[in-house]
Amino acid sequence: MSFLGVSVRVRLPAPKTLFYSKRKMHIPTIPMQALEYDKEIIMCGIMGYVGEKEAIPIVLEGLKKLEYRGYDSAGIAINNLSSRAKKKSKPKISILKCQGRISNLESFFHKKHMCGHIGIGHTRWATHGEPSRKNAHPHQDCNGRIAVVHNGIIENYEALKKELEKDNCVFRSQTDSEVIPNLISKFYKGDLKKAVQKAVKKLKGSYALGIISIDEPEKILAIKNDSSLIIGISRNGNFIASDVPAILEYTKKIIYLQNKQIAVIKKDSVDISDLDNKQILPKIEAISYNIDTAKKGKFEDFMLKEICEQPSVLSKIISQWVDSDNRIKSKKLNLKVDFLRNVENLIIVACGTAFHAGLVGKYVLEYLTRIPVWVDLASEFRYRKPIINKNSLIVAISQSGETADTLAAVRKAKESKAHIISICNVYGSALTRESDSTFYTYAGPEISVASTKAYTAQLMTLYLFALYLAKLRGNLEKNFFKKAISSLKKVVAQQERIITTSKNIKRIAKRHLHFGAFLYLGRGINFPTALEGALKLKELSYIPAEGYAAGEMKHGPIALIDEYRAVVCIVDDLPIYYKMLSNIQEIIARKGKVIVIASEGNKQLENFTKELIFIPKIDSLFSPLLNVIPLQFLAYYIAKLKGYDVDRPRNLAKSVTVE
Ligand code: M6R
Repeated sequence: MSFLGVSVRVRLPAPKTLFYSKRKMHIPTIPMQALEYDKEIIMCGIMGYVGEKEAIPIVLEGLKKLEYRGYDSAGIAINNLSSRAKKKSKPKISILKCQGRISNLESFFHKKHMCGHIGIGHTRWATHGEPSRKNAHPHQDCNGRIAVVHNGIIENYEALKKELEKDNCVFRSQTDSEVIPNLISKFYKGDLKKAVQKAVKKLKGSYALGIISIDEPEKILAIKNDSSLIIGISRNGNFIASDVPAILEYTKKIIYLQNKQIAVIKKDSVDISDLDNKQILPKIEAISYNIDTAKKGKFEDFMLKEICEQPSVLSKIISQWVDSDNRIKSKKLNLKVDFLRNVENLIIVACGTAFHAGLVGKYVLEYLTRIPVWVDLASEFRYRKPIINKNSLIVAISQSGETADTLAAVRKAKESKAHIISICNVYGSALTRESDSTFYTYAGPEISVASTKAYTAQLMTLYLFALYLAKLRGNLEKNFFKKAISSLKKVVAQQERIITTSKNIKRIAKRHLHFGAFLYLGRGINFPTALEGALKLKELSYIPAEGYAAGEMKHGPIALIDEYRAVVCIVDDLPIYYKMLSNIQEIIARKGKVIVIASEGNKQLENFTKELIFIPKIDSLFSPLLNVIPLQFLAYYIAKLKGYDVDRPRNLAKSVTVE
């Protein structure tokens, strides 16, 4: 899979060999520069361990790393095989679950004396059934012999539930997930794997499952369909997890389970087969992944860390995609050059912050390539009858590569034989698998729910793509390409300078955190920046905020302005500078409180407001890469000062894998 040039899944010339379960396996290493970030995300997080150590601390630690995926309730099930052997007690699955975060769950464990070397855990983002202890995972079958953790949605659970109720099965929760242990139990005739294979054939929807049973207490079973699940391999035991950071402390050897593959995981072996029991030789990949990228380090929160990482991310993207002669490394990608020369129309599909990146992309792509570009919310595109054909290029943008609507939009576009290029941060995610080429953004793990560094990474990637395409199609004037690359390289230091002024933004945040609503105004290429600024404030501090194209003020939003409104104005340089100046005066005349972001050296604006945030001078075309940073800081500080959890805002999960 590729876009501007390099194949991402790389085998080392001399692969390491792992002896595992009496088999010799090759472990291709995914090099840092090709991977850096390897995570698939879905709502809810799963973690499991089977090995020589106590399972509870390992599962708890793993769940903490997955909390960004959901955090309304959590639970762990332990198979007390080893302690039973000592005490000669009856086999038992012990379950502890609670509403709220993993820290809650942890405090319960301090009071209980549960132990065992096999355990599965779950952190939940509610879909079916309110966040509560009862609805928290793991769920058990009626007889209490099987426990299951589940990510995803079982679409036909109501029909299955009715069927199971006829067999006298009593359900305890409101979840869709509870049908799964009961189905497995129904099919269990002394072989857990067979029972799981039969049960999942009945399921419609998405799932990643971790399963333990009293009857076969030495193993965890894992299976997935359209929800991510990885298996970690180590000398002291094996793991299942929804995402790489959960197990990085223990191992870097990972198997990416594929759809409808079932894994039987014991402390010293992993056996994988398909639903018809055909054995599959797993591909173990060694991740050269810096564990610090998944830790807060000296920062108070992941969000602050991720905001501050932006200069280094952009620098990395440039080094990944631009060679020493300032050419795009297009060989890294399997591009159909003839197709790109003749593309008739280009449609960008994405959701949320990635959609805002797409809106900036429209300006840049149209300006540079002169190809007509539409940007569509993936959730809208998937239900439209879009005018596309085999000469259309779809650019799908997604940090996680798992967003349900974006994937559905891509599948829809494929029905019309359109060509798909994705801009994605997560190696091997569903989107990258479904695209003709992928332009990786190399932003490293973005743990905070609010997207920051992934956004500027998407922008930078779009700039490089647009420049490449424009050059390929002969649209650029002599030296334009070189100058543009040089401007993009300068952005790194310019972003660093903005980060050093964050104290000023914190002061502004303090003076405005009690305002009841915010408006964000921008024009042209910074209209999407206004939308993104408003989204950040909404999701982090729960203050109503709207982004508007400043030219639209008089067509409605100006009615909102009074002394309780704060209005953030992104002031571009000429030719639209004076237009925005008029908007600012109109707001002040109606007692609105204005916060301005403008290029440094502008004295005139001091006549209008004290609340000034300056950014280094930059060509308007590239200014979204700078203007968004003060807006990220503003939202961050307002939420922080209000006492909110900036990394895990209420009601949200990192990536939206359900409709
Ligand atoms: O993983 P994706 O980029 O596809 O996610 C899209 C949106 O869900 C995401 O950008 C969301 O809007 C963020 N929470 C915004 O900060």
